[in-house]
Parts: sequence; structure tokens; C-alpha cells
Amino acid sequence: MTFRTIIEPFRIKVVEPIRLNSPEERRRLIAAAGYNLFALHADDVLIDLLTDSGTSAMSAAQWGALMQGDESYAGARSWYRFEAAVRELMPFRHIIPTHQGRAAEAILFGLLGGPGKCIPSNTHFDTTRAHVEASGADAIDLLDGPGLDTRSRHPFKGNMDLARLERLLAERGADVPCVMSTVTNNAIGGQPVSLENLKATAALAHRHGKPFFIDGCRFAENAYFIKLREPGQAERPVPDIVRDMFAVADGMTMSAKKDAFANMGGWLAFNDDELAAAARNRLILTEGFPTYGGLAGRDLEAIAQGLVEIVDEHYLEYRLRTSAYISERLEALGVPVLQPSGGHAVFVDARAFLPHIPPLQYPGQALAVALYETGGVRACEIGTVMFGRRPDGSEAPAAMDLVRLALPRRVYTQSHADYLVEVFEQIVPRRSALRGYRIASAPPALRHFSARFAPL
Ligand code: F0G
Repeated sequence: MTFRTIIEPFRIKVVEPIRLNSPEERRRLIAAAGYNLFALHADDVLIDLLTDSGTSAMSAAQWGALMQGDESYAGARSWYRFEAAVRELMPFRHIIPTHQGRAAEAILFGLLGGPGKCIPSNTHFDTTRAHVEASGADAIDLLDGPGLDTRSRHPFKGNMDLARLERLLAERGADVPCVMSTVTNNAIGGQPVSLENLKATAALAHRHGKPFFIDGCRFAENAYFIKLREPGQAERPVPDIVRDMFAVADGMTMSAKKDAFANMGGWLAFNDDELAAAARNRLILTEGFPTYGGLAGRDLEAIAQGLVEIVDEHYLEYRLRTSAYISERLEALGVPVLQPSGGHAVFVDARAFLPHIPPLQYPGQALAVALYETGGVRACEIGTVMFGRRPDGSEAPAAMDLVRLALPRRVYTQSHADYLVEVFEQIVPRRSALRGYRIASAPPALRHFSARFAPL
């Protein structure tokens, strides 16, 4: 028997109250925060869709595993459990724990980056781009065509453009230390990369003698998309698809705050012995001894258990259905949503929703502020605020101006989703009254975290 309703595949044992404040109160709070959602006190947020990173609800088994944490400085039992759990899915020779994804990126690009180099990717996430650029290298996005078309329903909009990668490797091969792909492709809408594209990217990189790395933050969602959408994959277990994804790579970076259900953690992995040795030397300087990295033994335990749970297909079916449900309901209201819906988030096309606000007046920020003022929902601009500042300090519109409604794993229920849709229902009729913003102050890198805005 099959049912229409895909239920949350868990019941709730521990709850965390959330508080409803008034629109007047929220208008005052967001003004005091310089119209930057990152500057709000989280207690003043009703539904927090700022990120799916580190915000997962852990399972009873994970909380139990925390108590098993072995806090030995070297060779802890928890380290061996963590290493085995990672290697079960990602069979790399060397696994190096870090406190989160960007710590892995800092080590990787500290080793491989540098002035004059360039690092191609399907799309670098903001922290990845920042680390590449901080090393002096160029971060180059080579997204395949359908990914940039918000209305395209291509099944794998996260794919690498292989023709442009080939050209880059032919023209600037000497400057390219490695090739990278991000799964799912967060910055352009949580869109998946096909197994075929991962294999072809790896083959191309290898033909030019370059290692291929995967940013695996949302590997399980990507694998489930492959199962649903890629010919020949429908009958295969998700863990097998995951192993195939990573079998073609020479290493990976990972934030365990995403597809490992952990509140903190990450890792870096390599097959190459020399690169691994160099990375461990840096790890000891910045993170810690190689059997704990930046993590407590209990964190390693939570990640190991989380990796078992994240590839569960009932969970993944519910996970992808949640974003599809919100996306369908918003579409029905006439809100332009990136299609098909991504894994970890629903992305609203703010540039299309607020066509009267030009990109350099940040339509994504305007919508994000309106969502908070109207309903206490916290979302994240992924557009010109996040990507519009060039290394030389000048500004240009980002490829898209999106607002990301990121979905923490196992945290909110369907009625929270229905409430979110109602918040949009209230904004739709008065959208032409929304105004843009200017940046009043901002730091040189990753400005979206701490910029202050002024309404126009
Ligand atoms: N790579 C991708 C694709 C990411 O989405 C993130 C983080 C990172 C790397 C860095 O990992 O946060 O553990 O240092 N993304 C979060 C987000 C912040 O909200 O999308 P981290």
C-alpha cells in the first residue's frame, strides 16, 4: 500500500519553544540590527531558515553516542569510529578531521592555492571562494548552462560545464592545481550534479594530470537526486551511489554540519600520501592532533552515527519532499521559485519577484527583511550582497539575486511550512511597496555576515 502523504519519519522527544513577537517589535529589532539578519538575536526569530548548517536535530542515537565520546588526545576510540564511518561511504586513504568545512578549505587552498593560480568549480560556495581568493588564486565558476536559467527544469542543474573546463585546462592548465565540484551545488540553488558529470569531470581533470576534489557537504541529498533522476540508478541503494560519487575523486572537503546531522564538524580527505602529510602538518598548527582535528571525541561520535542516518532513504524521501512541497505552494501563489526545487532549501528569485528593485539595491535583502518583519522568518540573501563585491573592491550584480529558505534537518514540521507560505501570502499583494537598500558599512571579505544596510 502506498500513501500520498510523506510524513516526517520521526517522532519528537525533546522540544524547544519558539516565541512569537509582534510586527512592530520586529521592525524595531531589524532596524537596530542594521537590516542584517545575521545580527539578530536568534531568540527574536520565530522560524529560522538562515541555514541548514549545524542546525539539525540530532537523533536519540546520536545523543546516546555523545556519551560514548572518548576524549583521549591521541588515538581515541571515537576517532576510529569516525574514520570507519566516513570511509564506509567515501573510501579515501587519508581522512583528516576539522572543526568545520571552511577549516578543511583553509588547509586545502593553503596548500594548493597561491597567486597566479586558478581553481575551477561547478560553483564555489562563498567560503570556498573566499579561501581560494585569500590565497591569491582565482576562483572560477564553470556552471553548465541550465543551472543559470531559473526556469529550466533540467534534472542536474548543478553540473560542471565540461566544454569550458576543457578550454580552461587547455589554455591555463599550468595554473590549475586541482578541479573541484560542489555537491549539491549550494550557491545556485542546491541543485544536484549527476554521477555522469562527476565521472566526466574527474576523467577530464585526470587527462590533464590534475586531482579532482569534491566539496561533499550535501552528498546524501545529491545521491538521492541521482537515484530519482539519473537513468539506471533507480534501483540502487543510496550508499552505493555515494561510494560511486567519491570513487572518481582524489579527495574531498566536508562540512559535517550539513549531511552528517552534526552541530559542528568537518573533514578533509585525500588519496595522495604527500598532500595528506602536508595537510596534517597544517592541521596540527591550526586545528589539533590528526586523530581529533578541531573536534571533541563526542563530536566524532555524533558524526559517525549521523552518517549512518543520513543515507536512510525514508529520511531522504521526506527531506526532498519538504522542499518540493514549499516550492509548489509558493509557485501557486505566483512567487518565482528556482525549479526544480533543491535539496536543502527553497530559493526564491527575488530579482524576478521585485523587478522594481535593481540588483545593486539588493532585492534579495529587501525580501529577506520583509519576511522577518512580516512573519518572524529568517532567510538568507544569496545574491549581490553575498557575491557582488569583486576582489578589487568594485561591485557588480551577482548572476542571480536569490533568497534562500534553508531547511534545518528534522527540525520543523509541515505546519511550520504552511505558516511560511502564509507569510508570503501577506507579502505578495504589497510587494511593489518594498524598497531596496544601500550598504552603510561592510568588511572587505564575506561582507554579508556583518554589513550594515540603510533603506532607500
Ligand atoms: N561548502 C558548501 C557547499 C557549503 O554550503 C558550506 C557552508 C561550506 C562549504 C563551509 O562549511 O560552514 O562548515 O565552514 N554552508 C553554510 C550555508 C554556511 O549556510 O550554506 P562550514
